Amino acid sequence: MSHHIVEVRDLAYRYPDGTSALRGISFRITHGESVAVVGSNGAGKSTLLLHLTGALKPASGEIRIGDFPVTAKTLPMIRRTVGMVFQDPDDQLFMPTVTDDVAFGPLNLGLPEEEVRSRVREALAIVGAGHLKDRPPYRLSQGEKRAVSIATVLAMSPDILVMDEPTANMDPTARRQVIELLKTFEHTKIIATHDLDLAMDLCRRTLIIHEGRMVADGATLEIMQDEALLKQNRLEKPLRMQGCPVCGFGRPKN
Ligand SMILES: Nc1ncnc2c1ncn2[C@@H]1O[C@H](COP(=O)(O)OP(=O)(O)OP(=O)(O)O)[C@@H](O)[C@H]1O
Ligand SMILES: [Mg+2]
Repeated sequence: MSHHIVEVRDLAYRYPDGTSALRGISFRITHGESVAVVGSNGAGKSTLLLHLTGALKPASGEIRIGDFPVTAKTLPMIRRTVGMVFQDPDDQLFMPTVTDDVAFGPLNLGLPEEEVRSRVREALAIVGAGHLKDRPPYRLSQGEKRAVSIATVLAMSPDILVMDEPTANMDPTARRQVIELLKTFEHTKIIATHDLDLAMDLCRRTLIIHEGRMVADGATLEIMQDEALLKQNRLEKPLRMQGCPVCGFGRPKN
């Protein structure tokens, strides 16, 4: 199933104002892998993810999804294959109601109305947002917007799921529901997150980005144990690895 492979070669990107956001990033993600992209604020995570759906065009380097390079010509096909949840839900939601937003993608695929209705119902139910179906998205709370954004992407049944901070602003139960949901998604997942516990739960592999460069690419468990590496990149061990805050058991001595 080579169409689920994501390959990035020597990717560099500079924003129009001259900010150099990516400075030569390369990796290859194979079918079914679940990969966390972590790093400090401004490291380049969102910029990297925006290239995977062709929302940004590389200054140099190449991105391939399966057998195809991401170019203007392949973009419609790429967008059917790769579903992206943006960091800011306001970039994702623009229709008058939640139902319209979730139906937008499937209707654009030309699916029959009955199929669209059932996809909308299912996707909203999966993220626990069925009760929001008639609400205007711009009046929702941040966490509700996030859930609806995820539903818009699930309704497209993508082969590759790219998510930028999927659990930001979510309450603990909603966060847990999203994690459990993502565990059942068997295709390729690429998740940018500051939630390193989420990375531990969902991703066997982690990439660390720092100042637009890849500084680590390895097993999540190994990376999360490397305190020096985490610290250099303004990261902290996941909470579950920090030991007991009350009795001190398992806490590092410093
Ligand atoms: N539209 C833009 N114009 C100019 N510079 C930008 C723009 N968007 C981001 N940048 C810059 O590009 C760099 C990478 O930003 P990016 O949003 O990719 O970081 P990030 O790792 O996603 O950070 P965060 O954890 O805060 O979401 C930063 O220096 C940022 O200031
Ligand atoms: Mg970001």
